[in-house]
Amino acid sequence: MSTQAITFNRHLWQQHKQFNQPIGLSILMTQMGFAAKILSREIGLAALAGKLGLVGEKNATGDTQKKLDVFSNEVVIDAFSDTGLVAAIASEELDQVQLIECGGDAQYILCIDPLDGSSNTDTGNAVGTIFGFYRRHTTGYCGTEADVLRQGADLITAGYILYGASTILVYSCGGSVDGFTLDPSVGEFMLSHPDIHCPTEGKIYSANLSYYCEWRPQIQTLVDYLGDSQSTHHPPYSMRYSGALVADVHRILLEGGLYFYPSTHQQPDGKLRLLYENAPLAFVVEQAGGLASTGKQRILDIKADSIHQRSPLVIGSASAVTLYEQFLQEGAPV
Ligand code: AHG
Ligand code: MN
Ligand code: MN
Repeated sequence: MSTQAITFNRHLWQQHKQFNQPIGLSILMTQMGFAAKILSREIGLAALAGKLGLVGEKNATGDTQKKLDVFSNEVVIDAFSDTGLVAAIASEELDQVQLIECGGDAQYILCIDPLDGSSNTDTGNAVGTIFGFYRRHTTGYCGTEADVLRQGADLITAGYILYGASTILVYSCGGSVDGFTLDPSVGEFMLSHPDIHCPTEGKIYSANLSYYCEWRPQIQTLVDYLGDSQSTHHPPYSMRYSGALVADVHRILLEGGLYFYPSTHQQPDGKLRLLYENAPLAFVVEQAGGLASTGKQRILDIKADSIHQRSPLVIGSASAVTLYEQFLQEGAPV
């Protein structure tokens, strides 16, 4: 590898100079890269360190907590809480918002899913981290819950880390969407996917079809339509579903298509959480030219009323998300 290769920190410095990116945000993203390196190492060695399996508790969203959920949450809280830059953190693994005493200086709010896809940890399958940063609204000595309950359209930076066959950090601060692959031999994230654009079309759909019988008839009709390999209206689709939102959305971001997690009778608002899963991913995918909605409402237009609020999600290529919305609202367009 030549030293011409662009490291994550050099990219952040370029963003700071070129777009007058606040240096505080560059420092926070450096911290995110640091936390990602720690998590990549610990997730990779968890089986050898007795860090697999459950802790026995349930988190605020009722999910059973894995040891790696708790560990990942500790890593991200430690990475950001004493930077003097973050006034509050909303995490999937914390019942309440972590309010951080920081005087009036801290300008940022972090919403994070420290470990996404944790059902995959004990089998060595892909998992991820999802994050979004907002600029703080209040000026008191610590952040408030009101600073956290935001509309995704207010995000100033968002992204994810995929711990898979390689560790990839993908983020946007409102301009391009760029991806960095971790080279463990030098401990650096190197620019590997510059200026990602979500293809306008794709031939992949990603959903947990075991819920087919619980979905609205319009969604069942869409799945039948996508699964019709003899259709004269579209080439054959392939179905891919990993159980980790980050891994599935990353595939859709690069190759096109759609991921959807609709509402069911048991979960009328769907399963996925707005603040630290759907909104940050919607920010990234929209910056890359894709779309993200509930099927009826743009994800980034929804203002959160509670930190663990759920919403249905369809995300991916613009044409595919639009087709989903058509099916949901009008039934099959053909
Ligand atoms: P988390 O592990 O952070 O709770 O997220 C799990 C989410 C998402 O990553 C994944 O796509 C989805 O839950 C899987 O849900 P099902 O097992 O119901 O398909
Ligand atoms: Mn998750
Ligand atoms: Mn999680």
